[in-house]
Amino acid sequence: MCAFHRDDNHQLCVDGLLLSNIINQYGSPIYVYSAAGIIDAFTKFQTAVSPVNGKVHFAMKANSALGILALINKLGGGMDIVSIGELARALAAGCKPNDVVFSGVGKTAADIQEALTCGIGQINAESAAEVAAISSIAANMGVIAPVALRVNVNVDPGTHAKISTGQLDTKFGISTNQHEVSDLYQKMADDPHIIPTGLAVHIGSQISNLAPFEQAYSALLALAIDLRDAGLPVPNLDLGGGVGVDYKNAEPTNFDAYGALVKKLFKDQGFKLGFEPGRSIIANNGVLLTRVIYVKQGENKRFIIADAAMNDLLRPTLYEAYHPIWTLAAPDVLTGKADIVGPVCETGDYLGLNRDMPEVNGGDGLAVMSAGAYGAAMASNYNSRSPAAEVMVIKGSAHLLRAARPIADYINDEHIPDLTHFR
Ligand code: LLP
Repeated sequence: MCAFHRDDNHQLCVDGLLLSNIINQYGSPIYVYSAAGIIDAFTKFQTAVSPVNGKVHFAMKANSALGILALINKLGGGMDIVSIGELARALAAGCKPNDVVFSGVGKTAADIQEALTCGIGQINAESAAEVAAISSIAANMGVIAPVALRVNVNVDPGTHAKISTGQLDTKFGISTNQHEVSDLYQKMADDPHIIPTGLAVHIGSQISNLAPFEQAYSALLALAIDLRDAGLPVPNLDLGGGVGVDYKNAEPTNFDAYGALVKKLFKDQGFKLGFEPGRSIIANNGVLLTRVIYVKQGENKRFIIADAAMNDLLRPTLYEAYHPIWTLAAPDVLTGKADIVGPVCETGDYLGLNRDMPEVNGGDGLAVMSAGAYGAAMASNYNSRSPAAEVMVIKGSAHLLRAARPIADYINDEHIPDLTHFR
C-alpha cells in the first residue's frame, strides 16, 4: 500500500497522521516523507539483491536530507555520491567513508583529494584523464586509491532523453567498443598508486523495462570475465541505479523481477555486487504539500494557483513529469480540468496540467504525490523564493528535517560592491 493513503474519513494521511495537521503546524509548501515507507522500500531492495549479497549505496542525489541519509545508514545502506558536498552530507549523517562510492564525470583535483583524505570506499572513474589525475594525486598524498571504471555499454534505457546515460553519445562512462577499458584497466593494475576495484555501469533513470538492464549487465559481466581471465583483479561490479517507479498510482515499487534478473546473471559468478538506487527508495515515500492561494477561471481554463512552484519541484517543468495531485480533504466530485500552477513568473511553472480536479478554494491543501526523489534535492531559490521545508513522519509523529531557509540568510550571504563611482 502507498505510504500516503486516505483514512476512514477519506482524509489524506501518512502513518495515521493527517497531512492537514502537518501543513497547519509547519506551513506550506512543505515536503513530507514517510520513514516507514522508506524503510519498507530500502529493505525490499536489500532483500531482492540478497541472493547475490549486494551492497546498496543510496544515490543521495535523489534526496540528501541528513535525516533520510541517517535512516538509510541505520538500515545498512552506504551512499553513492557525486560531489564533495554530498560526501560532507554523507559523513555528517554518520556514514562510514568506506561505504561511500564516488560517481560523476567531472571530479576536480580538490574533490579527489578530499575523497582520498577521508578514506573513500571507491571512486568510479569515467575517463583515462580522470584515472591519471587520481593516480598523481594519490602519489602526492602517499596513498593507494581504490578505483573502478564506469563503462558505457551503449544501451538505450528507453527513458526520458535527459535522464538517459547508457548511450555512446552521452558524456558518461568509457566505451567498451574498443580496447580502451581493458588497456586502462591493465594500466591501473600496473599503477602502484591505484588498486583496481572493478567496473561500474549506470544506463539511466526511471527505467520501467528490464530488457535494457539485462543487455547492459550482460555486457558488463562479459567484460568483467574477460578482464579476470586475463589475470586482472575485478572484485566488484557496481550495477548503478535506475529502477523506475509507478508515478501514476504512487504505489510502492516491486523489486522482485529486478532481483531475479540480477540473480540469474550474477549468482555464483564470483563478483561482489553494488547497487545505487535513488528514486525507487524515496520517490513514492514523499509528497509536496501546498496550499491553494487563488482559483482563477480563465477564458477557457481553470487555474489553481498554489504556493508551491517550479523552484520547489522542477520535475514537471524539466521533464514533463507527471505527479498525481490529490486534495488533502476528502475528494469532492470532479468539476472539470484545471492547471495547477505556482506563483513563479514563467509559463513553464506548473505542478500539473489539464488535471481532472474537484472544486477547490483558496486555503485548501493539496498533495503533489511521488515527490520524494529529485524534488527537494533539485529545489532552488529562483524568484528569491525559499525552497520548501522538509519533515519526516516517524511512527505517527512529524519531525522537522530542514526548515525553509529564511530569505534574510540568502541576503546576508551577499555583498554589494562599492558603486559610488557610478554616481
Ligand atoms: N547512479 C548514478 C551514477 C546515477 O547517475 C544515478 C542517477 C543513480 C545512480 C540513481 O538513479 P535512480 O535509481 O534514482 O534512477 N533528476 C532526474 C533524475 C536524474 C538521475 C541522475 N542519475 C529526475 O528527476 O528524474
